[in-house]
Amino acid sequence: MTEPVQFSLFEITDPTPPSGDTYAQIPLNPEVPIPAGTYADLAALNAHCQVCQRCGLAATRTHVVVSRGNPRATLMIIGEGPGQAEDEQGRPFVGKAGQLLDKILASVNLDSEQDAYICNIVKCRPPGNRVPEPAEAAACLPYLLEQIRLVDPKIILLAGATAVRGLLQESQGITKIRGQWFEWQGRWCMPIFHPAYLLRNSSREPGSPKWLTWQDIQAVRDRLRQIESQA
Ligand code: URA
Ligand code: URA
Repeated sequence: MTEPVQFSLFEITDPTPPSGDTYAQIPLNPEVPIPAGTYADLAALNAHCQVCQRCGLAATRTHVVVSRGNPRATLMIIGEGPGQAEDEQGRPFVGKAGQLLDKILASVNLDSEQDAYICNIVKCRPPGNRVPEPAEAAACLPYLLEQIRLVDPKIILLAGATAVRGLLQESQGITKIRGQWFEWQGRWCMPIFHPAYLLRNSSREPGSPKWLTWQDIQAVRDRLRQIESQA
C-alpha cells in the first residue's frame, strides 16, 4: 500500500478537513502565518490565492484578483481591493478607476501593463465595495508581502488610505502625506490619491487632487528614470 503523497506547509488545525491536495495546503486559519519565502515564484503564490479561504471574503467572490502588469517592473502599484469589474474579470484596476489609473500613467509615458505590477491590499471583493475590515487586510497581507519580495519593485505607489494603512501602518491622512517619499524596507514608497477619489473630484485647477496627482506621477516617473539609469 502506498502512502498518499501529501505535504502541508503548515500545521492545519481547522476542524473541517479540506478536500483536494492544493486546498489542503492552505492555512485556513488566518492566525497561521505565511512566512517570507513560502512561495518559490508568483505562479505558486497565485495558485494558493485562487483557493484561499483565510477570510470571509472568499464566500462572496467571483474571482480572486491577484495582479496584472509586469512581474519584472520596477514600479508596483497597490490599491485597496477589487470592485465589481475586477471581481468579474479577475484582474485589478480594470473598471473606471483603473481606466483613470492607466491614463495617469500614460500622461508620463508609462504603460500599466509594461511598466507596472498592479495589485491590492485584499484580493477578493468586499461586498458592496465597502472598505476591507482590518482582519481581512491582515489575513491577506502575507500574500502581498510575498508579491513584493518576488517582484522586488524599487518604487511602490500606495493608492488611497487603505493601501497606506495596509502597508505602512501610517494613520496620517492621505491628503497630508500624498506625494511624500517614505522608505519602506529599502524601497521608495509614495502614497497617492486613489483614482476613484479623483473620479469624484474632477477639477484640474492648480491645487486640486487631480493636479496634485499629476505632480506626484511626474516625481515618480523622474525617480524611475533615475533608478533605471543606475541599473
Ligand atoms: N479599486 C481598487 O482599489 N483596486 C482595484 O483593483 C479596483 C478599484
Ligand atoms: N480618501 C481615500 O481613502 N483615498 C483618497 O485617495 C482620498 C481620500
